[in-house]
Amino acid sequence: MAVLEVIRNFFVPLVSREDTVIGPAPPTTYTVHPLTNSDLDEVIRLNFRCFKNGENYTKHTFSYLLTQPNALCYKAVTAEDRIAGFLCVLVGNDGTGHITTIGVAPEHRRRGLAERLLGHLDQMLKERSIASAVLEVRVGNTTAQSLYKTCGFTILQRLSNYYTDGEDGFLMIKALN
Ligand SMILES: CC(C)(COP(=O)(O)OP(=O)(O)OC[C@H]1O[C@@H](n2cnc3c(N)ncnc32)[C@H](O)[C@@H]1OP(=O)(O)O)[C@@H](O)C(=O)NCCC(=O)NCCS
Repeated sequence: MAVLEVIRNFFVPLVSREDTVIGPAPPTTYTVHPLTNSDLDEVIRLNFRCFKNGENYTKHTFSYLLTQPNALCYKAVTAEDRIAGFLCVLVGNDGTGHITTIGVAPEHRRRGLAERLLGHLDQMLKERSIASAVLEVRVGNTTAQSLYKTCGFTILQRLSNYYTDGEDGFLMIKALN
């Protein structure tokens, strides 16, 4: 997602996404909680594992998101109290929740965690009478597009040359009734 790119790359990340194949984590249970500033270091590490350089957020960006009054950030946590997934949203003055980032640790994927985080977000936005949620996704990120379609998002518009590397994006939207 390209939102916040102006503040995204203050520093070059020190670690990059793992390219090795990761096996599934042992079975565990998950709960969803607010993501707070005390989670900063752990969520940064996970973000670097989920996104490649140039697509991930820096510590400064997460610091910003975790301290903004108009941001909602959540984490999915294992029974062992490790962060397995995260989600951040900025609520605009136009009554829209803008999903800025979502990621799930490779070893915890395809267990419904992203769907659960997005479901939790729906609830939180509805409680605040937010009418819709929007996001941008790379046209090449078909995995995320499948997730968003499963969760009720539809493509509103193709965004030409949206990302800094020139890739197009899709603007996706979901009405929250
Ligand atoms: C996209 C991402 C967040 C999905 O997380 P996840 O917890 O594995 O997703 P879920 O298990 O909740 O999947 C829910 C649904 O999304 C779709 N989906 C998820 N991963 C998929 C994949 N690899 N291929 C096809 N469909 C997929 C499926 O419809 C899935 O339902 P199903 O498992 O019953 O078929 C995760 O792959 C990720 O962190 N990717 C890297 C970061 C990223 O691209 N973020 C989005 C930026 S726009």
